Amino acid sequence: MIRGVIFDLDGVLVTTDELHFQGWKRLAEEECIPFDRAVNQRQRGIGRMESLDVLLEKSTRTYSQAEKLAMAERKNKYYCDLLQTLTPADTLPGAREMLAALRKRGIRTCIGSASKNAPVILQRVALTDSVDNVVDGRDVTRSKPDPECFLLCARRIQLTPAECLVVEDAEAGVEAALAAGMAVLGIGDAARLPRAPRVVRDLKAIDADELLKA
Ligand code: BG6
Ligand code: MG
Repeated sequence: MIRGVIFDLDGVLVTTDELHFQGWKRLAEEECIPFDRAVNQRQRGIGRMESLDVLLEKSTRTYSQAEKLAMAERKNKYYCDLLQTLTPADTLPGAREMLAALRKRGIRTCIGSASKNAPVILQRVALTDSVDNVVDGRDVTRSKPDPECFLLCARRIQLTPAECLVVEDAEAGVEAALAAGMAVLGIGDAARLPRAPRVVRDLKAIDADELLKA
């Protein structure tokens, strides 16, 4: 029986996946590295440095570790500037309503995000108080698809992995949930999430009772 739901943040609850795309695009243009939506798709769900490595696959030169750290910091600066424009209207369809419906049913909720910016995002879209707990990029050392993030979420909301369902928009996140022994619902385009047993377009397309039928 599902007693807790773990939500990825970027691209599941908030439109920040698009802002990540814009931040990487600016960096890629400055560095003359080819970059498009297909590359960005592979950056979904994984950590900042891992995302940079995906971008640099198309680069014609190699970068030192110090250069890579500086580039990641630069992209984060561009991204954080874009986060300043974020308002509660940037919550994805059905997200706020789903969190309220789950709380009403006594279901525990947790954010399970790779992002080190999760607290500021939750604050800007006014969702901080809508979830019971948050695990973000500052709490984990291994990027999804490693299950570390979701296993820590389960511990924080004091449930077993089998009692948790993960909601994810990234293939790396779906894999992390399966590796954690959790049920998973994919968000977005089903063709992009071949390993997710169920996929819906957004959280508006499913109600809380359906969601909990893992
Ligand atoms: C994930 C995003 O939620 O967070 C990734 O899907 C991103 O695209 C990762 O790389 C890390 O985010 P941040 O905000 O710490 O750079
Ligand atoms: Mg995501």
